[in-house]
Amino acid sequence: MSSFWSIWIIALTVISLVLITWLLFSNRKITGSKETQTTGHVYDGIEEYDNPLPSWWFKMFVVSIVFAVAYLIAFPGLGNFPGLLNWTSVGKWEKEVAEAEQATAELYKGFMATEVTSLASDRNAMRLGKRIFANNCAICHGINAEGSYGFPNLSDHDWLYGGDAEQIRASINQGRSGVMPAWKNMLDNNGLEAMTQYVKNLSSTGADSTTPAGKQFAMLCAACHGPDGSGNQMMGAPNLADNIWLYGGDAGQIKQSIANGRNGQMPAHHDKLSEEKIHLLTAYVYQLSRPSR
Ligand code: HEC
Ligand code: HEC
Repeated sequence: MSSFWSIWIIALTVISLVLITWLLFSNRKITGSKETQTTGHVYDGIEEYDNPLPSWWFKMFVVSIVFAVAYLIAFPGLGNFPGLLNWTSVGKWEKEVAEAEQATAELYKGFMATEVTSLASDRNAMRLGKRIFANNCAICHGINAEGSYGFPNLSDHDWLYGGDAEQIRASINQGRSGVMPAWKNMLDNNGLEAMTQYVKNLSSTGADSTTPAGKQFAMLCAACHGPDGSGNQMMGAPNLADNIWLYGGDAGQIKQSIANGRNGQMPAHHDKLSEEKIHLLTAYVYQLSRPSR
């Protein structure tokens, strides 16, 4: 918060305190006599008394004003005005973060010294990994890493780029960019339909590579997806023969993928997360598809 707003709030508080004090004292009536007075207002024969404020009430009001002034001096806690006790909410928060970081630093040092494959079976480490995943990755991959349209499932055995520790680490560190070119200029609508059917067949009835579409697949697609459509992790080209789909396996979606191309983006995290956290996340993702460990 800028000092302007701190001063603004402090000034408003002081002004209200002064006004309240003035209001209290200017309206105070000290009557020595015991006789009852009225304000002169009469409603249907009911008269309004004009008694002084009860003294217990008056004293409590004064005490709370004194308390407010003392509180304001001791800890305003606003931005650059720490008050006599030197307390600010920001300062308190920073201290707590520093303490928490120190407490976890030791923990993370231990994690760093452990290989991904053994870290993956450390239940405490994985509990922490799940939290980091929830905060940074779940927004795209889902809270259980089950993925969704355009975002790969990280808990199955189907990998675009590979499920070994080093490939997972590379995916997280550097990010990934899937480049599936658009073919609508190369294939006319009939060609697109035939190719869509061919791709569908790859994972169901089996595809006949001697058909015109099969020959076209070998020419246009095999370089990335492999001659049998089983994919290529060097290119991040998905396996088209396994009935697991990044963008959906119905004819409409497959045709979309082929006609317009796809470009899935996994953002790089090396500049967002510490090396220790990425190490822990690597182990976390590693064990998701190996639950028996
Ligand atoms: C903005 C969305 C987004 C976020 C956030 C994100 N990812 Fe991804 N991630 C993707 C997409 C999209 C892909 C697939 C890229 C492609 O299509 O080539 C991917 C791919 C991956 C892969 C490769 C999967 C494979 O099959 O090879 C891994 C591993 C991965 N992400 C882990 C993570 C982790 C761990 C985090 C959290 C630190 C994370 N991702 C955060 C969108 C995201
Ligand atoms: C340059 C390499 C490359 C070529 C050539 C290529 N693809 Fe792809 N294809 C990819 C990549 C990479 C993806 C994943 C895109 C992503 O991650 O967003 C993909 C995705 C797809 C998908 C979506 C898969 C899913 O799981 O939803 C289909 C379908 C597909 N390609 C079919 C084809 C067909 C048919 C051809 C030939 C006409 C072809 N591809 C040619 C690289 C290629």
